[in-house]
Amino acid sequence: MPSRIFRTVSGRSDRRYYENIDIFPASIVVETTTACNARCSHCAHRIMTREKGRMDMMLYRKIVDEIARVRPTCHLWMTFYGEALLLQYRLFNMIAYAKRQGLTSVILNSNAIMLNEEMIIGLIESGLDDFIVSIDAFSPEVYKEIRCSDHYNAVVENVNNMLRIKSKMRVQKPQIIAQFSIMKENEHQLDAFKAYWLGRGASVKTRPKLSWTGAVEVDRGHPPKRYPCPWLFATCGITWNGKVVQCVVDYDAKYVAGNVNETSLQSIWQGKLKEIRDAQLEGRFDTSPVCANCSDWQSEKPTKIVMERVKSWLNQHHVTQGSKVIRPDM
Ligand SMILES: C[S@@+](CC[C@H](N)C(=O)[O-])C[C@H]1O[C@@H](n2cnc3c(N)ncnc32)[C@H](O)[C@@H]1O
Ligand code: SF4
Repeated sequence: MPSRIFRTVSGRSDRRYYENIDIFPASIVVETTTACNARCSHCAHRIMTREKGRMDMMLYRKIVDEIARVRPTCHLWMTFYGEALLLQYRLFNMIAYAKRQGLTSVILNSNAIMLNEEMIIGLIESGLDDFIVSIDAFSPEVYKEIRCSDHYNAVVENVNNMLRIKSKMRVQKPQIIAQFSIMKENEHQLDAFKAYWLGRGASVKTRPKLSWTGAVEVDRGHPPKRYPCPWLFATCGITWNGKVVQCVVDYDAKYVAGNVNETSLQSIWQGKLKEIRDAQLEGRFDTSPVCANCSDWQSEKPTKIVMERVKSWLNQHHVTQGSKVIRPDM
């Protein structure tokens, strides 16, 4: 199987990813459960105060049916905050439902602590497209420092086992992606991590550390000029009880744009969320309180299409250079 570096959203050359931004999100994150079997140092799950639970099947199907109708090529992510492998067969049924409805990209993030053979077969047979394993380290010590558990060797073995089973079954999917969130505790291990996992036939995804709206400390140095936040333009997050958050880094769902129990996701995306996106294109970054104090917009580079939208807005509004609108570096 060819190995490759899995690119983050900003690295995608795929123009379609951001096309028709205002019609429907390119990525949707659903919170199948808030339960988790870990307490990672960099994750806001440990400080979440909102009500916890797991997504009702009827609600999940409603969301998937809408995606299938409006944009089946949308990426459906099966976790927001929590560890979805805890759902076991319920999770496999959820993935299989999305695939039966024609969704082309179903993605699962997992800590892989529970990834035994039964789970591996369940994930393969469900039709999952991408399986992202959060490892973040290349030694038990660094793993423990970041992910606060002694499961490093077990997780590495589980992922290698999945690679072996896939090869034995001669299946291409799911693509296995070893993820490394870069931070000062692990940056010295990045090259070794990449070499190892690419050599095993997995892909590698790197991402910068997020602050989850300032809840977790991140040293970003001097900020660049503020640009419209790439998260807002591509991704939409839905909590287990149907709340659509104003931004996916809002772990405690403090600022909600609507509820998919009551209305369609598309109407929320084209309503409140569009209002926030449009304000950002105009250089107003405080329309949603979640954006006002957040620095996570810096964790992704603005894409060409978002930049084109900024230029087009400037032209339509006859704004010339030197105005107060802040342009991204182009
Ligand atoms: C919130 S977790 C949920 C899925 C699953 N429990 C896991 O660990 O993969 C989603 C992803 O966010 C990552 N993550 C958590 N805190 C982060 C941070 N401060 N910066 C970047 N990524 C983070 C996790 O490592 C994981 O890959
Ligand atoms: S990163 Fe994943 S495994 Fe770790 S605490 Fe957060 S949700 Fe749980």
